[in-house]
Amino acid sequence: MKFLQQKTREGIILHRQEDFSKMARSGQVAAQILDDICDQVYPGKRTIEIDEFIETKIKEYGVQSATIGYRGYKHASCISVNHVVCHGIPSDKRLAKGDILNIDVTVIVDGWHGDSSRMYVAGKPKASALNLIKVTYDALMLGLEQIRPGNTFGDLGSAIQKYAQKHKMSIVRDFCGHGIGRVFHQEPNVLHFGVPRTGAVFQEGMFFTVEPMINLGKPNTRLLADGWTAVTQDRSLSAQFEHAVGVTSDGIEIFTESPAGKYFPTNFILE
Ligand code: MF3
Ligand code: CO
Ligand code: CO
Repeated sequence: MKFLQQKTREGIILHRQEDFSKMARSGQVAAQILDDICDQVYPGKRTIEIDEFIETKIKEYGVQSATIGYRGYKHASCISVNHVVCHGIPSDKRLAKGDILNIDVTVIVDGWHGDSSRMYVAGKPKASALNLIKVTYDALMLGLEQIRPGNTFGDLGSAIQKYAQKHKMSIVRDFCGHGIGRVFHQEPNVLHFGVPRTGAVFQEGMFFTVEPMINLGKPNTRLLADGWTAVTQDRSLSAQFEHAVGVTSDGIEIFTESPAGKYFPTNFILE
């Protein structure tokens, strides 16, 4: 007999109670790796070395990388430095003093995907760069506060967009969050902008990522010839944080919370 998965009319899977613990396990491995790499990020380091360290950790934890082999991608992480918006490819290029970077790791544990990213710094960045990082993190967390059964994806997107605009920054529209679970990228597209009370209604059992990219300049992006690297058209700095969450009866479970609470991990404190 075929087991029919429960889905909304938008095609969003409603997962079962027992699936939450599977997602928490994969999310915690991704988050642990993002904790583990804190000491690896400093001026002079090549981003490919950070990626190799991540691959070593993935093996050590006995899990799989979701990105190696994904649509021809070859690395265990995406490392997006300064004006790179997302999907930066690890390379021989060395980090410079004051660089800011997003590191994005997705693992598969027992068939379930754990996807998370955070910002890191190589040495002390400019105040404007630190402020961008802080606003991006706060925008993510404000967005997450909107998620509960009855609210909509538009409520989430608009909370993030309003906060970025209040700080005279812009939300990238060319990339979005995504449903996640046994499949890496699936319904729905999670937009980081929107209109309150519009879009699909949150329901218990939905699993998806929220991963706003915020630019200091204009929102427009451009794809480099490598087919992956997305940069800001105006070369302004870009920041991103990503959590994978599941909708509960009255809010969310964050699957990718840092085990050590390291959201500004590279030994600096944001006030
Ligand atoms: N982890 C990214 C996301 O948040 C996707 C990376 S796909 C890759 O959805 F192939 F570029 F690694
Ligand atoms: Co993602
Ligand atoms: Co990701």
